[in-house]
Amino acid sequence: MRIAIIGSGNVGTALATALRRAGHEVIFGVRAPDPADPAENSIAEAAASAEVVILAIPFEAVADTVRAADGFAGKVVIDATNPLGMIDGKLELTMGFQTSGAEQIAALAPRAHIFKSFNQTGFENMADPAVYSPRPVMFVAGDDSRGKAKALALVADAGFEPVDAGGLRAARLLEPFGMLWIELVRKQKAPPFAFVMQHRP
Ligand SMILES: NC(=O)c1ccc[n+]([C@@H]2O[C@H](COP(=O)([O-])OP(=O)(O)OC[C@H]3O[C@@H](n4cnc5c(N)ncnc54)[C@H](OP(=O)(O)O)[C@@H]3O)[C@@H](O)[C@H]2O)c1
Repeated sequence: MRIAIIGSGNVGTALATALRRAGHEVIFGVRAPDPADPAENSIAEAAASAEVVILAIPFEAVADTVRAADGFAGKVVIDATNPLGMIDGKLELTMGFQTSGAEQIAALAPRAHIFKSFNQTGFENMADPAVYSPRPVMFVAGDDSRGKAKALALVADAGFEPVDAGGLRAARLLEPFGMLWIELVRKQKAPPFAFVMQHRP
């Protein structure tokens, strides 16, 4: 599958490594493409030519990005962002309970099929989740059933155990879940870990 990752930073690069390993064609959509790098395109070009788009940019950059890409019309879009900001000098989620970053993106891009995923662990775990056994869990939330099958398959291809968390409203749970990983590893300096789902035998 041809996948456009918007943003070539920590998360974008790690997901590209994992998805290319699984045989997908990955291109990047960036605001200043390197003409010498054939994998780098403008955001609009990358999104237009791909079947699935992954958002790996700061949440505050999403509104401009949606505009630049004609609202990602008709695309399956996986939102890996977390709506973070400094509150009273601390890195915190800037919304929750009443809405989520993913629902805000869906409101900005009503012709796209928005899914929340890839936001629940650190980029260090994304390039090669298979270092863990059992595989780390990665929840997927979103409303479109055909797009959901694609999003779940890509999460599995990247090396995670994909779990359907329900409709996009569940992003209100998945963004704080991502924040828990940030709290433990980035703030409390816990040794690197990933969440797994243990099934009752
Ligand atoms: N880091 C993690 O472990 C982690 C885990 C889960 C989710 N996330 C979420 O994933 C997203 C990306 O995190 P990251 O760690 O990959 O960040 P990062 O390494 O700083 O990379 C950010 C990327 O976004 C691009 N960007 C920044 N501002 C932009 C704008 N206004 N318009 C278009 N592109 C812009 C940057 O491009 P330039 O090179 O042009 O600046 C860069 O490619 C964030 O929303 C974060 O909350 C991060």
